[in-house]
Amino acid sequence: MKLEVIDLSSEAKGVARDNGKAIFIENAYPGEIVEVEILKSKKNFSEARMTEIIRKSEERIESVCPDFYRCNGCQFCDYKYEAQLEFKKEKVKSAFKKFAGLDISPQIVGAEDIFNYRNHIQFSVKDGIIGYIDKKNKGVFRPHNCKIAPKEYKEIINILENEKELERIKLVGIRKNYKGEIMIILVTRDDIPLNLSIYDKLFKISSHIFQNINPNPRLHYGPKSIKLLGDGEFKESILDNEFILSPTSFFQVNRVQAEKLYKIGIENLNPKSDDRVLELYSGIGTITMGYAHKVSKVIAIEYGEKAVDDAIKNAEINGVSNVDFIAGDVAEEIKKLDGFNKILLDPPRSGAGEKVISEIIRISPEIISYISCDPATLARDIKLLIESKKYKLEEIKIVDLFCMTHHVESVALLTRG
Ligand SMILES: C[S@@+](CC[C@H](N)C(=O)[O-])C[C@H]1O[C@@H](n2cnc3c(N)ncnc32)[C@H](O)[C@@H]1O
Repeated sequence: MKLEVIDLSSEAKGVARDNGKAIFIENAYPGEIVEVEILKSKKNFSEARMTEIIRKSEERIESVCPDFYRCNGCQFCDYKYEAQLEFKKEKVKSAFKKFAGLDISPQIVGAEDIFNYRNHIQFSVKDGIIGYIDKKNKGVFRPHNCKIAPKEYKEIINILENEKELERIKLVGIRKNYKGEIMIILVTRDDIPLNLSIYDKLFKISSHIFQNINPNPRLHYGPKSIKLLGDGEFKESILDNEFILSPTSFFQVNRVQAEKLYKIGIENLNPKSDDRVLELYSGIGTITMGYAHKVSKVIAIEYGEKAVDDAIKNAEINGVSNVDFIAGDVAEEIKKLDGFNKILLDPPRSGAGEKVISEIIRISPEIISYISCDPATLARDIKLLIESKKYKLEEIKIVDLFCMTHHVESVALLTRG
């Protein structure tokens, strides 16, 4: 069947129409005419596989990654970077139209370094191979030249593939900090210490090695980590502050772009010396340390107990003493709080949701700075704030933290009035 691609879905699939019915085509771009084979046909839409490109988009380039067409990680290795940024603007615009009924024109801040930007990556291990999941046969393949992972991954895989105990390792996590130090996280299902024969080789490239015990195959990491190598802490840096990172702590994967994102979030807050700020979903305090010294008091809520422990240590390291970190569920803890003139929130993909938004409306801060990794839930939450008739949306900015993929980070500023 021959189709013309007219749009890109929020997950970067080409969208065409056949008698009004939407057809989603992986790796097809707007403006292209393609030959497809239908893979799945549902009542309202179909999924199709492209078999031939009859007319190419001008934005299509030769893939920068040799494994792009089998790997699940990236969606845009054969799409010009400017076109990726346009896609992200459109994705946010259409989410706001669809979920909030708002017409917006967001600006986007692109990246200078679009390759090998990730400071944290996970590789699966299966049948003696360490790599990514092949989307065609669900096996694991070893990447030839991943364009988003830290470059050291190749050497680490080479060493680990010669290890006899490899069959006990289910996942290999690699973190690289701002000093270029490497942490390796070896995930096992069992709680028996790993006794690798290749430690001496790994020690040459990594400063920290952990075994993480994770009985749940649906998650990357489990709650328990055992230090196998490393004296001192593994630290990251954001906005001139330093942070201790545990192997499983959340830290944005693109440090350089995260700094730009946080700067906007903090500028939105316009911190002043008599401000009382409530920060929700605060993680290890990465954003908190960037503005706490400018305000009177911060209360920060995060449910990861380990993250809260790290946040307390991080406050000490950075000489910050006016923050109380609360370990708990935002939806429960926020009910007990009042008396803040500014709120900053950075929830996970599911957004803040109705309960938390109604508590924010009750507290009634003059400024809300909302950082989000999902434009659909951001738009849904902002709709609730606007419907309260207390808040108006001033602006939305997007920062590209995830080059080559469809993922989007944005920051919204809302003011009371
Ligand atoms: C997107 S991260 C942001 C973390 C931090 N602001 C940063 O930039 O590093 C979201 C954080 O929310 C936490 N979280 C998720 N659901 C939560 C909940 N219901 N209550 C409290 N914290 C939650 C996660 O543990 C995670 O640290």
